[in-house]
Amino acid sequence: MAHLLSTSCSIKLSSSHRPLSQPFRQCPTKFLTFFTLGTSKSPFKRFVLQGGTQQASCVVRATVAPISQETPTQSSSDSRQNSSEPSKPKRVMVIGGDGYCGWATALHLSNKGYEVAIVDSLIRRLFDQQLGLDSLTPIASIHNRLRCWRSVTGKTIELYIGDICDFEFLSETFKSFEPDAVVHFGEQRSAPYSMIDRNRAVFTQHNNVIGTLNVLFAIKEFRDQCHLVKLGTMGEYGTPNIDIEEGYITITHNGRTDTLPFPKQASSFYHLSKTRGYLDIRDTVQCVELAIANPAQPGEFRVFNQFTEQFSVNELASLVTKAGEKLGLDVKTISVPNPRVEAEEHYYNAKHTKLIELGLEPHLLSDSLLDSLLNFAIKFKDRVDTKQIMPSVSWKKIGVKPKTLAA
Ligand SMILES: NC(=O)c1ccc[n+]([C@@H]2O[C@H](COP(=O)([O-])OP(=O)(O)OC[C@H]3O[C@@H](n4cnc5c(N)ncnc54)[C@H](O)[C@@H]3O)[C@@H](O)[C@H]2O)c1
Repeated sequence: MAHLLSTSCSIKLSSSHRPLSQPFRQCPTKFLTFFTLGTSKSPFKRFVLQGGTQQASCVVRATVAPISQETPTQSSSDSRQNSSEPSKPKRVMVIGGDGYCGWATALHLSNKGYEVAIVDSLIRRLFDQQLGLDSLTPIASIHNRLRCWRSVTGKTIELYIGDICDFEFLSETFKSFEPDAVVHFGEQRSAPYSMIDRNRAVFTQHNNVIGTLNVLFAIKEFRDQCHLVKLGTMGEYGTPNIDIEEGYITITHNGRTDTLPFPKQASSFYHLSKTRGYLDIRDTVQCVELAIANPAQPGEFRVFNQFTEQFSVNELASLVTKAGEKLGLDVKTISVPNPRVEAEEHYYNAKHTKLIELGLEPHLLSDSLLDSLLNFAIKFKDRVDTKQIMPSVSWKKIGVKPKTLAA
């Protein structure tokens, strides 16, 4: 369950002409074809080398020329000047476009006729390599995915590989692609990952906070009319004993009234880095497209709570059990100690009307969708690593305390 932040500049930030780019990341040698090498003194080194495999230290200051430029659909900067004309397709930069939400969004927008560029450091793939994990379904390399998309549709998606925490790299991608809208998915998005140890907590904060700051400054410096659509997460609101509004709440305190951002009560370092429920990936891409097609007014900052249905964990377990039984599977539900710190039972009511008002037509969690997900698990059952199923990261071990008291 996410929330969607959408803003059009002008953002009131003072900008610096000399980028505060800090060499930060290491990457495995297999990425070297795309990266400019440099040395790094980052404390992150220990974390990256963990797992025993020696990896060359390099700064992700990647190819600024788009990698898939062989057949650019629209490359002259003159034509981009007029991209706000109705006949010119909007240019959308999808940061984190190699990830789960980003890839689907990039394809959806490309299919709808937008000019799309993906910006991604491929760090998500590196996490899996470091932790010795793999996805249930095989995921092709970003280059093969893009080649395949072009062969199926004839459409080109540009690719910039690099780290948005590196402002120099991000600046070059902005100058090269000249986006009309930026969709920002480029974050470390796993709460358990952020709670493994101090290094991952610091990495998550740095990556997500500095990356987002860099995007804001890049818009301010290079594309000040650009519309930013950014995914947050509902988890940052915690589980307050009042309704969760979409972004803002009007409070009267000591006789004075103001409308303020809805309070954060995040319970992991991931959730704390962000500016539950169910959302079909088809709705994720629909929501992002709706936000791009209906941009915020200049200077306006909108928040949409982006989910369509709400279930308890027990309700989800019961739905999956029933769907599995229909397919002849022997499904068992077991209870395990909660590795997180939320209350087991709590009030939860988040508003989610604004995207519906913009035209969102939700795909609800139906029997047929559960069937198709279970059929994927059956198809790839030989890839299932049962050791990864039980939670292995405990919030309590790194000292987080519950925040919300039930009334
Ligand atoms: N997947 C969900 O159900 C869900 C729910 C709520 C919120 N969100 C939010 O949506 C966003 C995307 O989630 P996802 O599930 O697609 O994650 P993901 O991990 O699959 O994709 C994120 C992508 O961003 C890239 N990335 C990370 N840091 C980067 C950096 N500094 N520079 C360049 N690229 C970088 C990664 O390599 C990865 O490809 C996140 O902000 C997440 O908090 C997702």
